[in-house]
Amino acid sequence: MTGVNEIRSTFLDYFKKNDHEVVESGPLVPRNDPTLMFANAGMNQFKNVFTGLEKRPYSRAATAQKVVRAGGKHNDLDNVGYTARHHTFFEMLGNFSFGDYFKDRAIEFAWDLITKVYGLPADRLLVTVYAEDTDAAVYWKKIAGLSDDRIIRIPTSDNFWSMGDTGPCGPCSEIFYDHGEHIWGGPPGSAEEDGDRFVEIWNLVFMQYEQTGEGRIDLPRPSIDTGMGLERLATVLQGVHNNYDIDLFKALISASEHETGVDAEGDALGSHRVIADHLRSTSFLIADGVLPSNEGRGYVLRRIMRRAMRHAHLLGAAEPLMHRLVPTLVREMGRAYPELQRAEDLVRDTLKLEEIRFRKTLERGLGLLDSATADLSAGGQLDGETAFKLYDTYGFPLDLTQDALRARDISVDTAGFNAAMQRQKAEARAAWSGSGSAATEAVWFALKEKHGATDFLGYETETAEGVVAAIAAEDKEVAKLSAGESGYVVLNQTPFYGESGGQVGDTGEMLGTDLRVRVTNTQKKAEGLFVHSVVVEEGELVPGLALELKVDRARRTAIRANHSATHLVHEALREVLGSHVVQKGSLVSPERLRFDFAHPKPLAEEELETVESYANEIVLQNAPVETRLMAVDEAIEAGAMALFGEKYGDEVRVVSMGTALHGDKADKTYSLELCGGTHVRRTGDIGLVTLVSEGAVAAGVRRIEALTGSEARAYLESQDRRMREIAGILKTGAEEAPARVAQLVEERRKLERELADARKKLAMGGGGEGGAPVKEAGVFKLMARKVDGINPKDLKGMADEAKVQLGSGVVVLISVAEDGKAAIVTAITQDLTDKVSAVDLVRIGSEALGGRGGGGRPDMAQAGGPDGSKADAAIAAIEAHLAGL
Ligand code: ALA
Repeated sequence: MTGVNEIRSTFLDYFKKNDHEVVESGPLVPRNDPTLMFANAGMNQFKNVFTGLEKRPYSRAATAQKVVRAGGKHNDLDNVGYTARHHTFFEMLGNFSFGDYFKDRAIEFAWDLITKVYGLPADRLLVTVYAEDTDAAVYWKKIAGLSDDRIIRIPTSDNFWSMGDTGPCGPCSEIFYDHGEHIWGGPPGSAEEDGDRFVEIWNLVFMQYEQTGEGRIDLPRPSIDTGMGLERLATVLQGVHNNYDIDLFKALISASEHETGVDAEGDALGSHRVIADHLRSTSFLIADGVLPSNEGRGYVLRRIMRRAMRHAHLLGAAEPLMHRLVPTLVREMGRAYPELQRAEDLVRDTLKLEEIRFRKTLERGLGLLDSATADLSAGGQLDGETAFKLYDTYGFPLDLTQDALRARDISVDTAGFNAAMQRQKAEARAAWSGSGSAATEAVWFALKEKHGATDFLGYETETAEGVVAAIAAEDKEVAKLSAGESGYVVLNQTPFYGESGGQVGDTGEMLGTDLRVRVTNTQKKAEGLFVHSVVVEEGELVPGLALELKVDRARRTAIRANHSATHLVHEALREVLGSHVVQKGSLVSPERLRFDFAHPKPLAEEELETVESYANEIVLQNAPVETRLMAVDEAIEAGAMALFGEKYGDEVRVVSMGTALHGDKADKTYSLELCGGTHVRRTGDIGLVTLVSEGAVAAGVRRIEALTGSEARAYLESQDRRMREIAGILKTGAEEAPARVAQLVEERRKLERELADARKKLAMGGGGEGGAPVKEAGVFKLMARKVDGINPKDLKGMADEAKVQLGSGVVVLISVAEDGKAAIVTAITQDLTDKVSAVDLVRIGSEALGGRGGGGRPDMAQAGGPDGSKADAAIAAIEAHLAGL
């Protein structure tokens, strides 16, 4: 028997041998198509290649594409578990030609592969062609030798494939396998075609047109897009009739049997199948970045998860079940899809958390459901109010309630359910419009209500497409923005990060046909609405347009590095200073990071150095940065740092990085924080962390600023350049520069001292101005001098020396500084202090110098005055005063 993994690789190998490029599956959340909720065909990732918008270095490709058909246009959720062939997740094998080969080669490849390589008997096969497509019928006859009765012409849209309302499309031809007479059903086109006897296995689409809003146009060159459901093919090749009987599903179901202790038979069979199917879709969605939420894609995921969880409950699983099945899934599919392997922990944790949470209300909800339907019999209907209560209070998605009642043939009044939902929305609207929100906020609440929260794709990608949901300008919704105008844009989904958690909003551009829009900022409003501030540079922006969205990648890369580095600096500060370090604020911009934290005193130089080196140790580990979704209390219990006073939802993203090398946490996770920001993939992407400043912002709050990556390098380079300049001036190597500078400073200090001494000597010791001028002033000997360039501090010492020289008398010294201000000291020898006071004299001098006051003791006083040019007049005034005594 050929296993699923072998069937898949045989397909890819076959087309590789035939010059096809084997391309990885596109992600389940399509990057290039905003109209799709999830990838629904192999051609999604090549949409723009078919239309000629995008060029690839190959013109033939083959893929095994992950597909989810739940929510959106194709929705198989309700059928899973009840039919042989429906899945919420499946794999589509496809080969593609972009203007290379067309119908004949496509038919040749397909026929050769299924009959020669896979060895299916030709007499079990038949095909359909689009009624008008005579070429295809002719080729089938010629290449496969099929008789006319086994080439069925179908005139309906069943044989004209299109991706959606717009996009590439064309007639198609499907290959069917006949399971044999013992199974009920008729050939395609017949009244019994829905039976299980004739099963479509491969669809060959002859892509020829592009459906646009205006009509159908020719593709630049005819192309090929094919899709074969791997599970169906495996069913045929493994000789079974139900997709859930192939090896892959058997492995999953047997794990589920093992974990629940319930055999997959009777009533339990359907539940095991639902669990196996939903395990695949939920795990792959989580691995591709979707996390459970109450909106958009996240809600589809939650619905699938909870549906599976109800079936686990039906099987009587006492403990959460889904997460225990993940290892089996990874073992079966992880080699073909390494992203599943990489995300194994995240998938397990997310499933476990959701199941623990949902179990709390599931039982009570089912109790309510039982009592509300106790009196209903087959054909009855559950009222909408109860269905809404189950939804609102017990977390039962509508389809879960419907699924739970299906076995009893009871339906749900969906109109009543919707009415209850509308009423709740109206109440919420009344609450916010009455809460005094400014008019500016009201517009965002209204848009949020109308369009729902924006799906944020920016954790996974920096480019994507999005559809314009609404446009606003100056607090009002508007119909358009023309070239030159600025305003705000809301999209159904966006890769632009909305400012929050200290991280600045993204900038970039939005492009459409003849349309260029610059995004200058992005902000989050009304809990989950991403509002882009834009300037229309070219064209006209209107709602409904699908735009190519491009975040300024270099800027975002720098922001990522700074955000991850903030976490590392935070943890390093706690390690070095202690756990009292709590975050008080942060700013993460492309240029730098700023982190405010509680700490009572400035950081010492060694502390800063240690913080920097600890952060860089984790950078050098090049450890993967991991994000998980956890319940807030669980995250905090696990040691995640959270901001006090910050509002968190029930579930939070928890970002962890690195392994601690020392301290109590040695060998454990280094940094663990609640954080909704965007981060580097591995710590090595930060490059380097450099602290550039430390200071106070408020009492007990310090601020650190740091740089990373090329900003850090540029900073260190300029520091180095300055260092070399200094060494150059000193004519020494950088190594010796500090000692040389210390020496120069010391030398200078010595020289200044010598200079001061010399000046004093010069001032007091005669020389230049004719010796110590002592004159008679009344009965006193007076030594009065104007001395230049003397530090006022030295004047008193000089006056003391002068008193000794005089023996008995009065000393007046005035020093005039470069700025013209004067300092005056008066001194009187002890024997004369009863005749005259130094304080009186200094006041007279100070007044003449334009100053006031002054003070001291009777034998020594000092003062200042703004006008040094009056020094001589001051001396004369004192002299006159003395003469008069
Ligand atoms: N795109 C085609 C399909 O999904 C092959 O059936």
